[in-house]
Amino acid sequence: MSEWQKSKWRNKPRVQMPDYTDAAALEAVEAKLSKFPPLVFAGEARRLKEHLGAAGRGEAFLLQGGDCAESFDQFSADAIRDTFKVMLQMALVLTYAAKVPVVKVGRMAGQFAKPRSAPTETLDGLELPSYRGDIINDLAFTSEARIPNPQKMLQAYTQSSATLNLLRAFSTGGYADLNQVHAWILDFTETNKAEAYREMANRITDALDFMKAAGVNADVAHTLQSVDFYTSHEGLLLEYEEALTRNDSTSGKWLAGSGHMIWIGDRTRQPDGAHVEFCRGVLNPIGLKCGPTTTAGDLKVLMSKLNPENEEGKLTLIARFGAGKAGDHLPRLINAVKEEGAKVTWVCDPMHGNTIKSATGYKTRPFERVLGEVRDFFDVHKAEGTIPGGVHFEMTGQDVTECTGGVRAVTEEDLSARYHTACDPRLNASQSLELAFLVAEEITKQRGTAPARVAS
Ligand code: PEP
Ligand code: CO
Repeated sequence: MSEWQKSKWRNKPRVQMPDYTDAAALEAVEAKLSKFPPLVFAGEARRLKEHLGAAGRGEAFLLQGGDCAESFDQFSADAIRDTFKVMLQMALVLTYAAKVPVVKVGRMAGQFAKPRSAPTETLDGLELPSYRGDIINDLAFTSEARIPNPQKMLQAYTQSSATLNLLRAFSTGGYADLNQVHAWILDFTETNKAEAYREMANRITDALDFMKAAGVNADVAHTLQSVDFYTSHEGLLLEYEEALTRNDSTSGKWLAGSGHMIWIGDRTRQPDGAHVEFCRGVLNPIGLKCGPTTTAGDLKVLMSKLNPENEEGKLTLIARFGAGKAGDHLPRLINAVKEEGAKVTWVCDPMHGNTIKSATGYKTRPFERVLGEVRDFFDVHKAEGTIPGGVHFEMTGQDVTECTGGVRAVTEEDLSARYHTACDPRLNASQSLELAFLVAEEITKQRGTAPARVAS
């Protein structure tokens, strides 16, 4: 393979990227971004890689979640805090009930660019270019709004850095302190789940009180007061990714400075395409979405390109087939991994294969199907003797009505009440917590350990 350079993706076929009309404006933005500080650091990306390696071996479990698309309009400290809180709750359920350390990775601080299934959208007879995320164009349905504007990359950078700043503060500044477990639950969480969570939180508080009384040492106390929280996004807009790529002086390797982990989407994983070319050269852990059209042959090529040294934690395969379909596709891909002796971390995205249009016209995802795909994923791994290493969700801490179902039973008629996503429908806080309890059960079953005694 030829030597990698951060700009060589430009020689490869690209898909799902905008055609900027003003080349000079684009170059000016790229020049500016290349002088800005990176958002993340090489040591952090390496540490995440180690954690993901542990998840691949079954010694940890990845919880990756956040918006489908972050939005400029809905940017607020409260929204970030609430999603962070729900992820802490979910992680707690997984750690406590399934006894597994949880690697927490947000779809946050950079998740702006969106691949689309069609290049245009039609409304009331008017056809316009599709919305591609706030880093590219605007959601408003006017021809002006849909023109790709490179300036938006600067706003995405600023928002990402403010988001990350807040996440770093929440992770270490007392918010994530285990002594605060009761404060993480949000008021509108459905009673059933909130009770199960509170019961668990009470036990944790008891254990902490005991440790304090027993004179626990300062190191342990410090560990309990902070969490590691990482960021991730789809590395779709390569001009932005390239401009934030930096050389790591300690290793001489290249870091995608836009987020700790970047992934390649289901629509941009062509083995000879621009996205694979860019991602193969950076030291960050890389995710690769695997869908029904991923062939075993392509997967083998992709694994050798994206993880040539067969490093643990480097490559996360994110399965997204749709409920009832994992059995048709996952075994052949698991087999390809086995044949190559490749080290990968398998993760389940039960969102993207389960999107439907409701009778009321909204894009939605039935909660039952989301659950169904999680179960299928665990079942297939059990049958194949391989390791389910994590889950990947589109979720928010806001009380939205975007996915149907759940204990609090969002109906198709309810969808219009609080449907706020800029792109795909997300699980709300109650649905996310409910899902965490179910995932904990699946992990416990998988490991053949006694289920933790938690009412759910
Ligand atoms: C996404 O994760 O938002 C996405 C578009 O996923 P996929 O590439 O799997 O369709
Ligand atoms: Co999505």
